[in-house]
Amino acid sequence: MSNNVYAPVRYSTSLKDGLDKIQFWRIFLKHYAHPLHRWVHLWPENPPGYREKMGKFCEEVRKLSIEIMGAITESLGLGRDYLSSRMDENGTQVMAVNCYPPCPGPEKALGLPPHSDYSCITILLQNLAGLKIFDPMAHGGGSGRWVVVPQVTGVLKVHIGDHVEVLSNGLYKSVVHKVTLNEENTRISLASLHSLDMDDKMNVPCELVNDENPVRYKESSFKDFLDFLVKNDISQGDRFIDTLRIKD
Ligand code: OGA
Ligand code: NI
Repeated sequence: MSNNVYAPVRYSTSLKDGLDKIQFWRIFLKHYAHPLHRWVHLWPENPPGYREKMGKFCEEVRKLSIEIMGAITESLGLGRDYLSSRMDENGTQVMAVNCYPPCPGPEKALGLPPHSDYSCITILLQNLAGLKIFDPMAHGGGSGRWVVVPQVTGVLKVHIGDHVEVLSNGLYKSVVHKVTLNEENTRISLASLHSLDMDDKMNVPCELVNDENPVRYKESSFKDFLDFLVKNDISQGDRFIDTLRIKD
């Protein structure tokens, strides 16, 4: 069990247990997953099939992440291989294995507070509904609205993280999401977060900058996000992407 956000494998509760002002109804295991051979021996040995099954899952999800990132860079006019060398071999993958036990007062607690992920994209598998995403454009872009992500067996959900917002110079927005609780059932989710190497800085590509579109974000790495996490409190609404925005 550890609150050291730099640890490649850790188990904890809430966000940073013992340091959080508000306690969240969550138990989690987080571990690095790429390259697999570098980390797998640090993963839990129990249950006995964990390393093998989770290893296979991580590798398959990673292949999918590369396909999706290729489609995203293509959609931005950068080509499918724009990030290949920085994501295929050298990228980071963090697997967050979340467990939300049944909660006797689900309306009084949250599994996770509203936040966006630092990643380029996050690929999520859930066994029960509970994830909600914020749609800022609901009601004609007025106050926005929380939307439940339905549970469909075998379906993977993909959401955009802060580093694709930077990559797209704001054309894509990172998705704000939170986790609500269930009175009867335990909810399990596997969230696979894909980004560049620890110290590789994501920046706005020059292809997306012109007179009308100045650079809107500062560059940053996964390591910069971890440094942010140590100093800030997500439960108080602190967002990494807000620290990257360049004001007009
Ligand atoms: C996360 C996350 C959502 C979920 O781990 O960052 O948002 O459904 N998880 O558990
Ligand atoms: Ni998240």
